[in-house]
Amino acid sequence: MSPIALRQLVSLALLLSLASPFAAALPTLQERDGAVDASAAAPVLAAVSQELVQVVNATKLSNASASSVSLSKKVSLPAYYSALVAVGASYTDNAHARASKYSSSLRQYYPYNKWNGRYTNGKVGVEWMVDSSTSPALKRSGSNLPKLLDYAYGGSVVQNGLSGTGSSSPAAVDQISAYLADVKSGSAALVSGRVLHYFNSGINSQYQIWNAALSAGLSDSSIANAKSATSAQVSVLAAAIRTIKKSSALASKAHGVDFVVVGLPALEIVPTSAYQVPSSFSADKKAKALSLLKTITAQYNAGLKSFAAELKTEVKSVGDRVYFYDLASLWYDMHSNPKRYGITVSPVTKTCYNSSTGSVCSNPSSYLYFDTLHPVTSVHAIIAKKVNALVLGA
Ligand SMILES: *[C@@H]1O[C@H](CO)[C@@H](O)[C@H](O)[C@H]1NC(C)=O
Ligand SMILES: *[C@@H]1O[C@H](CO)[C@@H](O)[C@H](O)[C@H]1NC(C)=O
Ligand SMILES: *[C@@H]1O[C@H](CO)[C@@H](O)[C@H](O)[C@H]1NC(C)=O
Repeated sequence: MSPIALRQLVSLALLLSLASPFAAALPTLQERDGAVDASAAAPVLAAVSQELVQVVNATKLSNASASSVSLSKKVSLPAYYSALVAVGASYTDNAHARASKYSSSLRQYYPYNKWNGRYTNGKVGVEWMVDSSTSPALKRSGSNLPKLLDYAYGGSVVQNGLSGTGSSSPAAVDQISAYLADVKSGSAALVSGRVLHYFNSGINSQYQIWNAALSAGLSDSSIANAKSATSAQVSVLAAAIRTIKKSSALASKAHGVDFVVVGLPALEIVPTSAYQVPSSFSADKKAKALSLLKTITAQYNAGLKSFAAELKTEVKSVGDRVYFYDLASLWYDMHSNPKRYGITVSPVTKTCYNSSTGSVCSNPSSYLYFDTLHPVTSVHAIIAKKVNALVLGA
């Protein structure tokens, strides 16, 4: 057969692969995450000559058209990660360079300036996820650690202006748009492996939503508003994450588009929450306030968890992976069993840095909290290990 005729036959084979009989054989291949694997391809193409298999192999490596991408992804997705893309707020901001108009999203003052304005005393979770000291590590190619592409801004919300929430820096939806623009222009270095997309947004918007209910004295209507605002937050974040799944520029450049959606910590037990309740509230009303915060945090997390389950089914056929990390469960366990995590100070809500006195502790890794909202870097490292283990299926 001439190369031209072969190429035409291959095009036909690729088109046919979208329907039976090839499609029937594909499910086993979808589970594979190895590199190009002739033994995996053989059963699918059993009726086709070895010569043709070779051309299919070459074609799928070179042709990024929409029809062949779905077949090539199924058989050639690598196992390793080359990039970790991070979207979020202070828990995720690695103090990356930013436009001067957003400089207030970093804490360029004592003691945070010691760590370039990060909201903790060292690396944040996503930095630990790709740090050579972290075990388990994400799968890597040789000695190449995945590269962190951090789009997070401290203080940011899900969408500026949504249900009365906002900040002066790019929100999660803006961070995602900026990332997709970088993918399109080629300035996002995705390299040759899978890309893991990490999302941890909503802590600031949920506090703003809760504060609106506190300001309204926890009226019935303010409580109802807090719950509907929470649903709106989940919907908007979910829709923004789906734009990544739908990006054709990304589909043609990445070799596996994976997602890890991280929930919020259990906000009602985070020390800042008790300080935010107006001192005019009675003990009963304070308890009601914290109970509402628990309710809307759990609602937000449950919404993200069910979104992640839907997304997982939506991307399964192209071999992409989706995970939900339940940060609130870790938070409850760290509060109940702090010693299990090396946290020895008591009470567990004690902070390393005290903003009233200006003192910073000398043993931060014995703490959970650096300040009343943010964990110490050693707790960020624990989160990173947990998320890496989840992604590894360990
Ligand atoms: C497909 O390509 C890979 C490397 O790109 C090669 O190792 C393998 O032998 C090829 N398979 C066939 C059937 O040609
Ligand atoms: C890729 O396939 C499409 C149709 O499936 C074809 O039009 C295009 O020329 C191919 N590109 C290459 C580089 O083979
Ligand atoms: C900060 O220190 C003061 C004085 O010791 C203390 O009363 C306060 O509870 C501390 N704040 C926190 C958040 O631990």
